[in-house]
Amino acid sequence: MRTQVVIVGAGPSGLLLGQLLHRSGIDNIVLELRSREHVLGRIRAGVLEELTVRALTEAAVDTRLRREGLRHDGVQLCFDDSRHRIDLHRLTGGKHVVVYGQTEVTRDLMEARAASGLATEYEVPDVSLHDFDTTRPKVHYTRAGRSVRIECDFIAGCDGFHGVCRASVPQTALRMYERAYPFGWMGLLSDTPPVNDELIYVNSPRGFALCSMRSRTRSRYYVQCPLTDKVEDWSDARFWEELRCRLDRASAERLITGPSIEKSIAPLRSVVAEPMRFGQLFLAGDAAHIVPPTGAKGLNLAASDVLTLWQALEEHYRASPSGLAQYSDRCLSRIWKAERFSWWLTSLLHRFPEDGFGRKLQHAELEYLVSSEAARAAFAENYVGLPI
Ligand code: APR
Ligand code: PHB
Repeated sequence: MRTQVVIVGAGPSGLLLGQLLHRSGIDNIVLELRSREHVLGRIRAGVLEELTVRALTEAAVDTRLRREGLRHDGVQLCFDDSRHRIDLHRLTGGKHVVVYGQTEVTRDLMEARAASGLATEYEVPDVSLHDFDTTRPKVHYTRAGRSVRIECDFIAGCDGFHGVCRASVPQTALRMYERAYPFGWMGLLSDTPPVNDELIYVNSPRGFALCSMRSRTRSRYYVQCPLTDKVEDWSDARFWEELRCRLDRASAERLITGPSIEKSIAPLRSVVAEPMRFGQLFLAGDAAHIVPPTGAKGLNLAASDVLTLWQALEEHYRASPSGLAQYSDRCLSRIWKAERFSWWLTSLLHRFPEDGFGRKLQHAELEYLVSSEAARAAFAENYVGLPI
């Protein structure tokens, strides 16, 4: 078999790249380890930057997003029992974010791919990459007990943090930068109306909490928890009680609780792999970097990598001077700024192990943030997303 681009991974990065390439007339095949249902069962963040909405529009998968996505012009910070609004729209000269779940983005992309009749192989367990340091890379895998070999021009590694693509690169060619945080997020999804019409990020003496949503009738809440906790340790009742304790009194009184429809614990970490290109292999999204979810940059970074890669590949096939050589540097410049913002917001809002000095600094910074227009503008500019 032969194609122009083999895309490994059918998460948002791989599916978005596949759709954009298809619209530019560039052939591609997507290979995914898991089943469609498994991919759709993962609950991830749901805040889209305008750049991500633009990428989905370029891919012509924005119909439902435009209908059902919730435009948010502000976010709220809560500490010392009071809430403070950051007016994203005013502080950024008219920008906003759109609340629309990553699961829905993935579903829309899957449906668009299926409707275009494009090749996607689900449940392929043994993808391996060959000769990607030459101009004739190959990808091997097994389908129904028979081994398949695809020859291609390029391989796009969109297979997330635990995928095979980054792992196929010689370790000496790769530098990893990492930071782990000593806590996780316990998340709960419920069919209850959100406590507030904007997201609330909370720094409380009992730890961080976040009130988010998927729609006007579906809420997503998180509380900071120890890394050793298991989902079984968190009954719905315990979760709601803990969330209530972390919120300001007015929000706590308004909070509507109900049975969970999903609960999960996620560790927080920051990781960047450099560079993002090895010969004809290009890494994009979680395959190359992880951000802690504070600030919701994961999906948005994936979308900006993919936009950059798509443009470079399109130039290459049009035989114009192509951005392929600059791909890694271009992406990393934006990635490190988002890494910085996500690390900073995580540091500002979470409770760290006994650290009196750190707590005083957090408090000083929170007060500075809500009292200084310049500080709020810097927050807003990063939250809505920096340009590519
Ligand atoms: N072969 C084929 N597919 C693989 C392999 C493999 N060896 N290993 C992993 N995959 C698949 C995963 O099953 C998953 O569906 O690659 C996909 C990667 O998807 P994501 O992890 O969602 O990563 P990405 O598409 O880059 O999405 C960006 O945004 O909100 C953030 O971290 C969040 O997933 C999110 C990310
Ligand atoms: C979410 O809705 O899941 C979400 C929102 C904002 C974040 C992280 C997660 O910063």
